[in-house]
Amino acid sequence: MKNLFWSFGAVAVIAVAFASCSKDNEYDLANNNNVICDTTAVSYANTVAAIMSANCNVCHSGANPSAGIATNTYQGLNAFYSVTLLGSIRHEANYSPMPNNAPKLSDCDINKVTAWINQGKLNN
Ligand code: HEC
Repeated sequence: MKNLFWSFGAVAVIAVAFASCSKDNEYDLANNNNVICDTTAVSYANTVAAIMSANCNVCHSGANPSAGIATNTYQGLNAFYSVTLLGSIRHEANYSPMPNNAPKLSDCDINKVTAWINQGKLNN
């Protein structure tokens, strides 16, 4: 009986260890770190809008958006020159680094915005 108790305990510990492993993976996926970055068939609606919502719309939306440009709509984001948009999110010289006063986007998010431009700035 005692042995049975201990083996059940061991199984429980192993199960908990595995469960926390899979949580780590979900965290990585959500944060785009060290995982495959899917840049196929990128559109404003299916990919870019979420990146803008999380990082840009707080300033670039509403009645008086920063730089006069809204990022929360497809038409608004299109108003940025592609080279200016990329220069800003890549923090290149001669462009204002964006998001303003906040850490750079993840490499995956930058790659997605780059892919969006290279694929012809699709809306949907
Ligand atoms: C905290 C407010 C704030 C956030 C967040 C923010 N911006 Fe800006 N953005 C500004 C302001 C203010 C300007 C105009 C002044 C300047 O160029 O620095 C600007 C200018 C820009 C420009 C023009 C830059 C240039 O060199 O002409 C681009 C492109 C831009 N933002 C894109 C973005 C993108 C994309 C994001 C999200 C990844 C973002 N911004 C997040 C405030 C913000």
